[in-house]
Amino acid sequence: MPTIIFEYPQGEWTAEAPAGGALASVCDVAESPVPFHCRSGNCGTCRVAILEGEALLEAADGKERGVLATLGLSAPAHRLACQVKVGEGTGQIRVRPLSPRMPRAGGLKVPVRRDAEAGRLLVRLSDERTGEIAIPGVSEPEADAVVVIEFQPLGEKRAREVIARIVDCEPDGDPGLYLVELELLEQDELLMELFRENAAATPS
Ligand code: FES
Repeated sequence: MPTIIFEYPQGEWTAEAPAGGALASVCDVAESPVPFHCRSGNCGTCRVAILEGEALLEAADGKERGVLATLGLSAPAHRLACQVKVGEGTGQIRVRPLSPRMPRAGGLKVPVRRDAEAGRLLVRLSDERTGEIAIPGVSEPEADAVVVIEFQPLGEKRAREVIARIVDCEPDGDPGLYLVELELLEQDELLMELFRENAAATPS
């Protein structure tokens, strides 16, 4: 039976993991510092680094590899804890959460326009500090999709990118207009501030 060691800034936490069991169950029982959201391998919230013992885990499938790639990560050094099954054998598996529990823009709805020609979604945030915010490569919003939001704050030369998840989406009257609930998976103070401001003027 492998031993799982969770590493986090405040110290370490150890738990025993049954072979064939889900790492998520071990996390739940051990009240580990790994945050979860969708628990179905879509959002990337539960991403972890495997610092030791990767051979004691069953290999990642194509879907898990795809979501990790969206986040700039790759198995076996990185995994989605909700998708990991513990394999046979004994030894230590050392795990470090990569997505700290942090304030999110979850639950805030923003209007999004589909720009079919450009093949992207444009988030309408009425703040001149950022100009237009785009979700490139996505022409139809789909719940649970992990997307990269691009925006260029005024006065900055380079665009910023922040990873988010589409929590929910619904048509909003006009063709091509949606109300999309976005949850930031990475911290960006300016974007979070804008979401909060716009949410106040947007029906939820
Ligand atoms: S909790 Fe969403 S991918 Fe694991």
